[in-house]
Amino acid sequence: MILVTGGSGRLSRRVIELLLEQGAGPLMTTTRSPEALAEVAARGVTVRQADFALPAEDLAGVFRGARKMLLVSTNTLEGWGKRFEQHERAIRAAVEAGVQHIVYTSLAFPYPASPVPLARDHYDTENLLREVGVEYTFLRNNIYAESLLFSLPEAVRKGRLKAAAGDGRAAYVTREDCARAAAGALLRGETRCSYEISGPEALSFADLAGIVSRLCGRPVVYEPVEAEAWKQELLAGGMDAMLAELWVGFDRAIGEGMMDLATRDAERLSGRAPQRVEEFLAQHRESLMKG
Ligand SMILES: NC(=O)c1ccc[n+]([C@@H]2O[C@H](COP(=O)([O-])OP(=O)(O)OC[C@H]3O[C@@H](n4cnc5c(N)ncnc54)[C@H](OP(=O)(O)O)[C@@H]3O)[C@@H](O)[C@H]2O)c1
Repeated sequence: MILVTGGSGRLSRRVIELLLEQGAGPLMTTTRSPEALAEVAARGVTVRQADFALPAEDLAGVFRGARKMLLVSTNTLEGWGKRFEQHERAIRAAVEAGVQHIVYTSLAFPYPASPVPLARDHYDTENLLREVGVEYTFLRNNIYAESLLFSLPEAVRKGRLKAAAGDGRAAYVTREDCARAAAGALLRGETRCSYEISGPEALSFADLAGIVSRLCGRPVVYEPVEAEAWKQELLAGGMDAMLAELWVGFDRAIGEGMMDLATRDAERLSGRAPQRVEEFLAQHRESLMKG
């Protein structure tokens, strides 16, 4: 039995789809919202309710029967360290329930030295998995290409792309390629190792400005900014404080070369070359023009 956590999330949902397409199973998923997964349940997937934020929940009972598990990192922004608390609850319960192999969606450069405030949660989760006596596989996902759809439309409108990343590069990867890699890791991945899940190339913000200029037919230039000033500007624009810290943290990590990790690991796991950012953005040209 393969268990995918967070079944109503976009990544998990797609992994379940891919596993069903490949005839893998039996399959189980846990979610905070089982009612959203009636269609998945109708296709033979066991759907159970679980919220890793609730200490009182009997997660071991919920996970019982699973042998492999994709632990999808949660997305809470209630406080740095909260994600780890949730992951720890899930990991300890999974071990108690007899899960033998846990595939975990981590982050590129998951070390305390990273300026990304969430890196510590991934670092602690990876270390816990190494310690609890289970087989583990880490999928260190680079930055989602989808995240570019938050910043690039405004850049296209203004003709300026701002970031506190200097000349640094990131190997943006689509959620679809992360999902394919995760399905591959569950079915064929090695254990006790990490995969760097990235797109095929690392791009700077100047590269991104060039790409959107070409795609949208409007000049866009990259304007590097200083991290603290950028955070204040994002806050002044109404961005939530934790999100602003996270946003600038990612910029700084890019600037320090921590996201400059283009590998062939996604293809190794999925059997398919990951999509280039330019092609991904071309498919979303309409959203880019709506800034
Ligand atoms: N590399 C990147 O650039 C990047 C960007 C964004 C997110 N991420 C990470 O990748 C994960 C998957 O991405 P996504 O696009 O699928 O995100 P998403 O659509 O926002 O889904 C969030 C996921 O977190 C799960 N979750 C949240 N709170 C939970 C809780 N208390 N207990 C159990 N599960 C909980 C959700 O499960 P249910 O709702 O089904 O319970 C769902 O699977 C995110 O959660 C985040 O950790 C990475």
